[in-house]
Amino acid sequence: MCGIIGCAGVRDTVPGLIEGLRRLEYRGYDSAGIAVLNGDGLERRRVKGKVRDLAEEIRRHPITGACGIGHTRWATHGRPSEDNAHPHTDCSGTIALLHNGIVENYWSLKEKLLAEGHVFKTETDTEVIVHLVEKHFHGSLEEALRAAVKELEGAFAVACISSRDPGKIVAARNGPPVVVGFGSGESFLSSDITPLLAHTRRVAYLGDGEIAVLEPSGVRFATFAGAPVEKTAETIDWEPAMIEKRGFEHFMAKEIFEQADVVRDTLKSRVSLDSGQVFLDDLGIAPDVFREVSRVVLIACGTSYHAGLVGKYLLETLGHVPVDVEYASELRSRDFAMDRETLVLGISQSGETADTLAALRLAREKARAVLAVTNNTRSSMAREADGVLDLHAGPEIGVAATKTFVGQMAALALFALAFAQARGALGEEASRTLVQELQRVPLKMDRVLGGAAAIERAARRFLDCEHYLFLGRWINFPIALEGALKLKEISYTHAEGYAGGEMKHGPIALIDEGMTTLAIVPHDRVYEKMLSNIAEVKARNGRILAVAFEGDERARAAAEEVFPIPETHQLFTPFLTVLPLQLFAYYAASAKGFDVDQPRNLAKSVTVE
Ligand code: F6R
Repeated sequence: MCGIIGCAGVRDTVPGLIEGLRRLEYRGYDSAGIAVLNGDGLERRRVKGKVRDLAEEIRRHPITGACGIGHTRWATHGRPSEDNAHPHTDCSGTIALLHNGIVENYWSLKEKLLAEGHVFKTETDTEVIVHLVEKHFHGSLEEALRAAVKELEGAFAVACISSRDPGKIVAARNGPPVVVGFGSGESFLSSDITPLLAHTRRVAYLGDGEIAVLEPSGVRFATFAGAPVEKTAETIDWEPAMIEKRGFEHFMAKEIFEQADVVRDTLKSRVSLDSGQVFLDDLGIAPDVFREVSRVVLIACGTSYHAGLVGKYLLETLGHVPVDVEYASELRSRDFAMDRETLVLGISQSGETADTLAALRLAREKARAVLAVTNNTRSSMAREADGVLDLHAGPEIGVAATKTFVGQMAALALFALAFAQARGALGEEASRTLVQELQRVPLKMDRVLGGAAAIERAARRFLDCEHYLFLGRWINFPIALEGALKLKEISYTHAEGYAGGEMKHGPIALIDEGMTTLAIVPHDRVYEKMLSNIAEVKARNGRILAVAFEGDERARAAAEEVFPIPETHQLFTPFLTVLPLQLFAYYAASAKGFDVDQPRNLAKSVTVE
């Protein structure tokens, strides 16, 4: 939902801003712009399109400056266009400002500002902020932004510069993330860590209700009310190489093929193969909590919600506990009952998704404890939760989530085992069997990924198919939902995910030779029922692809093509069944020539509601 970047230094910052925006492009990519301060005052370049179009525009019409801000946009108010691209300027053209978020009261503010004589040039909600800063400017940009943000309702991460108070960037946060980087003779800000790694490993996070003033010599922090805030720099241990493509054509491909390592890393030092014990010492809450609760609620959006559904089946089976999985956006609108015997887990790759964050804040008022299952231990969710379950998946750049989904399932499997062990629901022998098999899962994942070429061939063969039905039962029902989501979001193909048992209650009417059913049929407790589903599709001339255990002749006889997976414990099949579905979606989208890493209309981190 928009990426923001800034640098206050002494050298030309334009190449650094462009490079940083490239790293943030996953957050939004319909238009981009930068503004810098130099001897000529304030200069801007903006384009409709991607960061590469902005780079081309700057190549044709160069600008330089040692202090500048940049933005890559995911449109909320106002269509993607050069006029609506950030940074926006005030009436005098001496202040430039960019914004990630939504100003909810922008209309009433705009009416007031128009009546006061301000001239608006865009359709965005953001433009009211720069006019408010102009209105309150009396020589200090910091004071002006402080006065402006007091009038705003909604979510915002803003940064501004002015030729009337040069050499500094002033930023404010209420909602969307802002990370500040401490360089040598330079200070940086960004929506996330990745662009900063090229310049510094020392960072701090702007809190809600805080302002930062960045100058080449350092950064000052204060509250909106003006009270100084002290922050200690944290050191980031991510290697810059972790965010390169490593020879793959797309980040998504790299991330799919990294998934076995993600499970290895998530399990590392957290399990004993001898005793079967799971240790979640880094979780931050006492195991007593597991014994004291009578219900678990999992809250998430999108792919993370599908991981939550897998978590539900794991927790129900191993921990014998009632579990609800809720869409964060829905839970917020409901009168949802929760009490001190409820344990809540928020599942979010980014840890910043606005709906999930808001739902967890509501849950904190009522529940026994709130845990964040996230890939970003420095995110808002991680910092506000009572405990954090870290995915250890490394940065995920492809907009479609893959390795973090698998990381979430691994973290939830560990959580379910630890929960069941703490409650005495799982004996030592059963624990040992499960943990040892979980440890073998990454090797089996590598084997499935080794069969990628056959999946690519199948994806190309089915390229003309316009409609897909993904069917799974029990713990692979969420994988059917996830497979359908992957296919639609990157290849723009119509796909529906259904529980196999629901097929007869409606979707079967869609089956004909134009519909391909992708059936997930591992040899588990619902195997026979899934084979019946396949037979019903076949009887109606539907085409069938299947994911089944290696050597499954019945699945092979029923399907046009089978994507084989090694045998594993039935609770762990999702780690293997999801892989062919991700690869199928990836190869279909890439064969169609689509922008796999940045699918249309999407953004990686959804920080608006
Ligand atoms: C789909 C996808 C989204 C996210 C959703 C939640 O591939 O990535 O559906 O899963 O936007 O995001 P997080 O996990 O960051 O809360």
